[in-house]
Amino acid sequence: MSLPKRVVLVGPMGAGKSTIGRMLAKELGYRFLDSDRIIEERCGANIPWIFDVEGEDGFRQRETAMLSELSEQPQTVLATGGGAVMREENHAHLKRDSMVIYLKTSIEQQVERTRKDKNRPLLQNDDPEGVLRRLFALRDPIYTGLADIVMYTDRKSPRLVVRQLVNRMNPKSPRHRRKVGKEGRNHA
Ligand code: S3P
Repeated sequence: MSLPKRVVLVGPMGAGKSTIGRMLAKELGYRFLDSDRIIEERCGANIPWIFDVEGEDGFRQRETAMLSELSEQPQTVLATGGGAVMREENHAHLKRDSMVIYLKTSIEQQVERTRKDKNRPLLQNDDPEGVLRRLFALRDPIYTGLADIVMYTDRKSPRLVVRQLVNRMNPKSPRHRRKVGKEGRNHA
């Protein structure tokens, strides 16, 4: 199959970008990079600390610099933070030589998957579900606009999502041709 130079995963908190990204990279023989984890390593502190000390704006500056740097890396699957699409200047970094995949997930699943998490500062308040809903309303059109593939992840195991993604990335596979007739090209 002819593979894109890079695969970039976008989508909300709790979409499964890191888990699916790691498995997809293995499947493609690519390196897996997680923008948030690399920011934390470089900074020597976790994301809640960065938000606390530098504010969200400080984190966003680090994120933009990281995305710019990582957009140079070939043969990689890159998992991005849920807010990476909010700065327009990041779009060129995300799109550069890349296939962008939007992992689309219901609010219910996002709530379920982030319920016990203490590492996401935007959700450490009385109404994390309300925050997720507001962020979805703002960000869903942007994720969709940037994406080459929109993949629903609700009620699917990471393994199934990866199998469906590989199938969608390789339009010549017989399995893909059978499915296109049923589902159309843009969504799964
Ligand atoms: C954020 C998502 C987080 C992380 C930060 C801000 C967001 O990443 O970048 O807490 O704005 O949605 P995940 O999407 O990996 O949780």
